[in-house]
Amino acid sequence: MKKNIIIAIDGFASTGKSTLAKHLANYLNYIYVDSGSMYRAITYYALKNNYLPFNEENLKEFSKILLDVKLSFVFNKKLGYSEIFLNNNNIEKEIRSILVSNHVSSVATVSFIRKHMVNLQKKLSLDKGVVMDGRDIGTVVFPNAELKLFLTASAEVRAKRRYSEYVNENVEVEYDEVLNNLKSRDLDDSKRKDSPLIVADDALEIDNSFMSMEDQLIFVKSILKDKFNL
Ligand code: DC
Repeated sequence: MKKNIIIAIDGFASTGKSTLAKHLANYLNYIYVDSGSMYRAITYYALKNNYLPFNEENLKEFSKILLDVKLSFVFNKKLGYSEIFLNNNNIEKEIRSILVSNHVSSVATVSFIRKHMVNLQKKLSLDKGVVMDGRDIGTVVFPNAELKLFLTASAEVRAKRRYSEYVNENVEVEYDEVLNNLKSRDLDDSKRKDSPLIVADDALEIDNSFMSMEDQLIFVKSILKDKFNL
């Protein structure tokens, strides 16, 4: 019988972590968890309920209500991956807005929020056979993951890719706004005190600035075959 493993994919914003993770989860018939969508969902909730910007007082209140906020993933057969639900409502579209993107990194610096998210992430993957992407998956959530990938690409290449996605979705946004958002999120994510974005010692770094998604997938599949017989 083939051994189920944990695949942790970390890296900078818009490096194609989710796309790669979804492909790998489909290929291996594993669970896919987009941990960034969980931080986005909490940010969306905080925005909707007027908690942002956080201050000492409303943070205390938020720490209490956070425990009652229900996050769940529901597999969408048509799409072939799970979508995130907040209190039983599908919020996949809402959490990708530029407003949520502009606030999510600051929300992700709050330690009690991170602790809660990490606990949920560990529970979602009790049986292994999981591909999870984020910023601290190989370092904090699954330090024992069998395969750790760290994706990078130049900020300009990433901003162009993200901008084209927005254009395809008819979202009105300027290229510069996308570029600035990526750069400031990278900075916030890398310099925060709790679980900063760093390359795990045993992670394999992939710079995909000049690599197509297909080539990247072929490369990772070859690792799965050579190292894990998968
Ligand atoms: O993967 P993403 O761009 O959707 O993630 C949104 C933000 O959430 C990202 O800027 C930082 C935060 N995040 C995090 O701190 N830890 C994770 N494991 C995943 C995301």
